[in-house]
Amino acid sequence: MWAETVAVTGAGSGIGRAVLLAAAARGARVAALDVDLSAASAAADEALTAGASGAVAVECDVSSEASVAAAFDVIGAPGAVFANAGIEVNAPLHEFPADAWERVVAVNLVGVFLTCREALRRLVEAGRGGSVVCTSSPAAFVGHAGGGNSAYAASKGGVSAFVRSAALDYAPHGIRVNAVVPGATDTAMLRVGGADLGRIREAAAAQIPLGRLGRPDEVAAAVLWLLSGESSYVTGSHLVCDGGLMA
Ligand code: NAI
Repeated sequence: MWAETVAVTGAGSGIGRAVLLAAAARGARVAALDVDLSAASAAADEALTAGASGAVAVECDVSSEASVAAAFDVIGAPGAVFANAGIEVNAPLHEFPADAWERVVAVNLVGVFLTCREALRRLVEAGRGGSVVCTSSPAAFVGHAGGGNSAYAASKGGVSAFVRSAALDYAPHGIRVNAVVPGATDTAMLRVGGADLGRIREAAAAQIPLGRLGRPDEVAAAVLWLLSGESSYVTGSHLVCDGGLMA
């Protein structure tokens, strides 16, 4: 489906891994970037089994300028990029440690900037257009009482504003920039801090119109569409995949 590489950050787990495998199943060449190299390597191996025409795993901390630059030096000019790596730290705002707040913003927002900067530079140079998708969250749009996720919400609000602005800047180059907005999706992130998955599933059933958590492969289908030429007239958009949560 893609002549060029599809690069995914946070590819070692959850939504990123599902996107890597979905792209692989369509015969793409894939690059799995993750701060956890063994997870990225396992995902790249799975991608080859799933049908990727090539797969490379690269250790990459998206919050580090040098690490992101080095990763893109390894993978070269991708055709499509999923800037997805993210973390969540929850604490009441009046007790939130400043270093934890900064870490969330460094990974979720600065990481998206650094990933997109390296990708866009190469896409502009290649002159063939391209597609970039960033991972936002319902937290960018609606509050969540008692969640203690002010840092996460602020970082994702930044990602959404970033996407709109970047889309306008790179439209003249034929490069599209969009966001996916996954709702509560059944990944490792939901288990942060040893959270009780049974209770989360019950809460999801009560609050989410479709009555269940999303699956990573369901989010991946939305992301694949945005990454592919099938969405050729879509840029600056948010594709919400949340079971109706924000409807
Ligand atoms: P996950 O925890 O399963 O996967 C996140 C991946 O990112 C892991 O492989 C981890 O090693 C990697 N990562 C963490 N810090 C990194 C760094 N500094 N550099 C590179 N890689 C790093 O989580 P999930 O759910 O797949 O999350 C993916 C994205 O989706 C995140 O941006 C998250 O905020 C977002 N999201 C998730 C939702 C959910 O309910 N699971 C809902 C809305 C958004």
